[in-house]
Amino acid sequence: MSTFTLDSATSRATPSPQPGKRLTVPAIRARKVAKDEGFATAEPVVMLTAYTMRMAQLLDPHCDMLLVGDSLGQVIYGLPSTIPVTLDMMCAHGAAVVRGSWHALVGVDMPFGSYEGSPETAFNSAARIMKDTGCAAVKLEGGEAMAETIAFLTHRGIPVIGHVGLTPQAVNVLGGYGARGRDSAEADKILADARAVADAGAFCIVVEGVLEGIASDIAKAVAPPVIGIGASAECDGQVLVTEDMLGLFERTPRFVKRYDDLANRVGAAAAAFASEVRDRSFPTADQTYRPKGS
Ligand code: KIV
Repeated sequence: MSTFTLDSATSRATPSPQPGKRLTVPAIRARKVAKDEGFATAEPVVMLTAYTMRMAQLLDPHCDMLLVGDSLGQVIYGLPSTIPVTLDMMCAHGAAVVRGSWHALVGVDMPFGSYEGSPETAFNSAARIMKDTGCAAVKLEGGEAMAETIAFLTHRGIPVIGHVGLTPQAVNVLGGYGARGRDSAEADKILADARAVADAGAFCIVVEGVLEGIASDIAKAVAPPVIGIGASAECDGQVLVTEDMLGLFERTPRFVKRYDDLANRVGAAAAAFASEVRDRSFPTADQTYRPKGS
């Protein structure tokens, strides 16, 4: 079922989103230009995660891309990792984010188990995500091992965002979420993964949790924009999990900068509400329906 029409008579989404032209895959790809000895970014790509309509509305004017990340498993559902996240979850949240945005290119993560088995399986999952949500692209984790699948999808009309370095869906193989590429063999492998994903046709590549030198080598070596998370300033763009940068969690990884302290502000608002309910100072006449003229 396609769910991306907005009923502006009944939705809190009114009056936005405004009709407009979304950023396209070629426009994002064109942010990176060829230079004498490699590639350079013309304008950094700004990406944040979004999982809900309202957050998408608030972020959309400021972002080039909104990512419906499978990090929603932990952030929204309180799951221990991204492993249990399902296609149904990604489709429901993807559709909400598309409904709440009009400017940014929306990409949706392919959840664990929905694409690794074969290129055909990946195509069926990606086609469902695109039909159900109206998003413009899907993201999948993995390097050389996923190159055939990325080529299969892009040749069939499905734009792919790559994801290399720390790949959270592989947490059980990696043994944790620590930064990757601390020895030269692993660093070489991550660079080879990024090259394979770029050659296969990914239009941009998320590089997560790697040492600065690796990010810099990848950014110079591949044509698609490299969007870093915990991968230094050497990338062609940056992405963060929105709830992390808003300060909604007590603990955040070292690479996150908190731009607000929403956990405390939400707690303070809830405490004020609770106190006013208990001492009966809320609601007042201002919040009470009365017969007209009384
Ligand atoms: O799932 C996610 O939010 C992501 C970003 C961290 C890049 O993959």
